[in-house]
Amino acid sequence: METLQDLLVEELKDIYSAEKQIVKALPKLVKGAESDALKQALSEHLEATKTQVTRLEEVFEVLEKKATAKHCKGMEGLLAEGSDLLEVEKSGLLRDLALIGACQRVEHYEVAAYGTARAMAENCGLDDAVALLAQTLEEEVLADTTLSAVAEDLYATLGAQTEGEEDRPMAASPAKANKAANKPKTTPAKSAAAGR
Ligand SMILES: [Fe+2]
Repeated sequence: METLQDLLVEELKDIYSAEKQIVKALPKLVKGAESDALKQALSEHLEATKTQVTRLEEVFEVLEKKATAKHCKGMEGLLAEGSDLLEVEKSGLLRDLALIGACQRVEHYEVAAYGTARAMAENCGLDDAVALLAQTLEEEVLADTTLSAVAEDLYATLGAQTEGEEDRPMAASPAKANKAANKPKTTPAKSAAAGR
């Protein structure tokens, strides 16, 4: 590695691997999601990601390099955290919220990676590469925003469920004791979500 352009190629190899890993991992996450809104957001992002793989191949072409992947360990770890949730947690609202957290970590990794690659391409004067990388960067930011919106809806559903439970007449006292113990924990979480 001797020039900035060499460094850019290394970055692209990492991102190329990351995107390909995402294409492989997303179908399982779509299947594991309970809410239709999350399923839809992840399915749409799967299609967008396939396009991003092709777009990266175009960037390699601009640089007159063969498109090659260098295994991205960071993405491997992030995706493993997501799929582990499917093994460990039972399906439902809370697992969906955990999945969104895992997917947003993935998105933020990509935003950082594409931001870096775009800056490098800019400094190499590679206008065509800059345009391609900027387009994907925009899509990654959008995917992150969409996931935040889905999470907001799930927090609202969760809040409504919790309130519904509190309104119900208490049949058994142990459950009542449990709810009383849990109450202070749910309140700060709800106000934190509302404050975002
Ligand atoms: Fe992507």
